[in-house]
Amino acid sequence: MTESIIIPGGISKKERYESLIPQIRALTEGEGDMIANIANIMSALKYGMDFFWIGVYFVKEDQLVLGPFQGPVACSRIGFGKGVCGYCWKIGKHVIVMNVADFPGHIVCNIDSRSEIVLPIFKENKVVAVLDVDGDKIANFDETDAHYLAQVAKLIESFI
Ligand code: SME
Repeated sequence: MTESIIIPGGISKKERYESLIPQIRALTEGEGDMIANIANIMSALKYGMDFFWIGVYFVKEDQLVLGPFQGPVACSRIGFGKGVCGYCWKIGKHVIVMNVADFPGHIVCNIDSRSEIVLPIFKENKVVAVLDVDGDKIANFDETDAHYLAQVAKLIESFI
């Protein structure tokens, strides 16, 4: 596995993801433990992309339960359909929220979170987890993030 993540400065978001994702794959190569891999991916993305918060919530019965994350402490449990994460679980598609204040039912884990993207993680066509990323700026996320984070969600699916 790779021991460190290197991202060149002064590059676009797309270039940043394109540099980071192969390094994330290398980081998890040869390691079969799901938690070890997801924990390292969360760190690589948090620091590689300068996210405010990133984490995975796992579906456990009728709730999402917090898994590996990087950033400030967060809500441990989210109900089906609740908040942005629960909505993503319900619809099985990624959700981009430009301004969390405009999303009815948004769950505030940290007041400094301003925008959010959540992607579903599937196993046998069922949502088994969600990948949640928070930004500390309005409109931090767009379809470029959705495109590349979907690749990360697919990689995570291969460990579950
Ligand atoms: N804001 C999320 C809750 C999780 S935190 O952002 C880490 C939501 O509305 O589901």
